[in-house]
Amino acid sequence: MAKVKSKWVCQNCGYETASYLGRCPECAQFGTFIEEITTNVKISENSKPSNLLSGETKISKIKDIELDEKIRFKTNIEELDRVLGGGFVQGSLSLLAGDPGIGKSTLVLQTTKNICEIEYNNENLKVLYICAEESPHQVKLRAKRLEVEPDSLYLTNQTCIDEVINQIDIIKPDFLIVDSIQSVFCSSIASGAGSVSQIRECTNVLMRIAKQRNITTVIIGHVTKEGNIAGPKVLEHMVDCVINFEGDKYKQFRILRCIKNRFGTISEVGVFKMEDEGLVEINTPSQMFLDFKEPAPGSAIVATLEGSRILLHEIQALVGSTNYANPRRVAVGLEYNRLLQVIAIIEKKIGLNLSKQDVYVNVVGGIDIIEPSYDLALALSIISSVRDIPITQDTIIIGELGLLGEVRYVDNIERRLSEAYKLGFKRAIIPQVSEKINSKIKNIDLEIVQVSKVSQAIKGALQG
Ligand code: TYD
Ligand code: MG
Repeated sequence: MAKVKSKWVCQNCGYETASYLGRCPECAQFGTFIEEITTNVKISENSKPSNLLSGETKISKIKDIELDEKIRFKTNIEELDRVLGGGFVQGSLSLLAGDPGIGKSTLVLQTTKNICEIEYNNENLKVLYICAEESPHQVKLRAKRLEVEPDSLYLTNQTCIDEVINQIDIIKPDFLIVDSIQSVFCSSIASGAGSVSQIRECTNVLMRIAKQRNITTVIIGHVTKEGNIAGPKVLEHMVDCVINFEGDKYKQFRILRCIKNRFGTISEVGVFKMEDEGLVEINTPSQMFLDFKEPAPGSAIVATLEGSRILLHEIQALVGSTNYANPRRVAVGLEYNRLLQVIAIIEKKIGLNLSKQDVYVNVVGGIDIIEPSYDLALALSIISSVRDIPITQDTIIIGELGLLGEVRYVDNIERRLSEAYKLGFKRAIIPQVSEKINSKIKNIDLEIVQVSKVSQAIKGALQG
């Protein structure tokens, strides 16, 4: 007989224990354990695994395995195709993650329009869309507004994965969309939909279906307040491709960022704008995040490199005396620890005491900057705010900061500078570059100031 057991599972990282714990020993989060019931069915020697999911076991020598050219289905949404490395690979399992309301359902729905037009084996690709979160009526309403009503798009409101397998048998789709993984469940697991065990098991089942039947699968997952993909990190390990949809849902811009890709690189980003008619691609995004009027104390502009794209961002800093025992440090759009590190460098190397000052910094545009080339711009924006002196007009600032206060080289300086020149910048504060790079950048019509220390950068950047 099936034996009913219970276990406590951390909903953040998937750590399991027999009894309740207040703090997870694995991920150090508090209050994340919930009780999950498991039914242990003993497998007798005669019982066979379900033929739905079992595959033929093969052992081959690596030399004997023949590589077939991976078929990629291009979505014809250029920004998405670039992030995926040229389209969805047939039979792959991708996870599209993002905050609720960011536009994940809208993106996949718009994608189905082009996918359904692709001909494969003389037939249009069939897409099965599992609307576990909304009713098919709601999806239809949105599809109508977005003018996405292809012939070979099937909707189902089935949320039980075991039943979904039956529907796959009937419809035989080439593409499967699960919206969302937190709302589907597997009947063999007793805990509720959205729990770690359910998410893990459902993804497992979907992965095996994808591989065995060559169904290209996209699962949608919500992210938690902490910014992790809700539920276990195991989800990230299991899938072939993880794409994050980021941005501020109250603003228009969205960035699609690949954080894992078994079939391509992970450096590319895609940029979209949410309009009334759905997501619109931004093919030349360098200037999109810049809503810059004239220099003001506390503002600095940096050129970052995202994949093959150069994006310009404005960093704003506000420094003022504090009313608290511990001064406040707030970072929006960039890493909090990086802000602390830059403040420490300023205090030590410039001798500016910020221990009685609150420091707020914000990246304008609602998009997070991830690469470290913004350190110098961040430091200069803080110093500019403290001294109440603006940074000189039309100046772009590029450079990473080392703990010794040195300004470090960042990749692709020449590309960042030429993009800044195209957008009308006149001056650039950059790290010291080699002879080779020097010969490349001397043709760019910018006044270039090369600095090796923060103190030199201050002289070069602040007006007066
Ligand atoms: P949605 O795709 O439902 O988000 P998710 O699936 O990530 O939860 O998108 C939700 C938001 O997008 C919603 O607040 C309204 C906005 N939106 C538009 O502005 N224009 C549109 O054409 C669509 C479809 C949505
Ligand atoms: Mg949705």
